[in-house]
Amino acid sequence: MLNDIKEVLFSEELLDSVVKKLGAQISSDYKGRNLLMVSILKGSIVFMTDLMRSIDIPCEIDFMAVSSYGSGIKSSGTVRIMKDLDRDIRGYDVLIVEDILDSGMTLNYLMDLLYARNPNSIRICTLFDKPERRKVDIFPDYKGLEVPDEFIVGYGLDYDEKYRNLPFVGILKPQVYMKNKE
Ligand code: IMP
Ligand code: MG
Repeated sequence: MLNDIKEVLFSEELLDSVVKKLGAQISSDYKGRNLLMVSILKGSIVFMTDLMRSIDIPCEIDFMAVSSYGSGIKSSGTVRIMKDLDRDIRGYDVLIVEDILDSGMTLNYLMDLLYARNPNSIRICTLFDKPERRKVDIFPDYKGLEVPDEFIVGYGLDYDEKYRNLPFVGILKPQVYMKNKE
């Protein structure tokens, strides 16, 4: 598995400090609110479990699974809900927890869908942001780190469902995804 990584971009230690900073900011911004953290499966699972433990105000959690057709390295923009939230979000201050904002198509679709359900508020917290690749006007309210236009894996992020268990984030060697195209 490590042989497929071109370069380590963010170490475990760095990720830990970035996530703790986000947690502190969110804890202070949401004091007295009705925070519901919504993790978008599966990519945000590692981030979610670390982030929620660095939040020191009462909060609830829920999960949504979406798939944007295709298993390549780009999202298609057509989003399908594989698992919906368990509850009605009216009265909640929803914080969407996402691994990476790339074209923005997935979250753009989700924001519209969730807004229509009349929560108190909705904000986006993404660990990684690839602003260069944005195709729609969508801006994260909280973001951890900006990343270059390369395909990254680890800390929850996958290529073809693998590498999610790496504790750091690395750039995948292009020959790994080129090989699968043949
Ligand atoms: P978007 O709809 O293009 O913003 O796609 C967002 C989703 O694409 C993320 O939640 C990831 O699942 C996936 N994605 C985008 N870039 C990467 C990457 O560099 N590594 C792993 N997954 C990525
Ligand atoms: Mg994802």
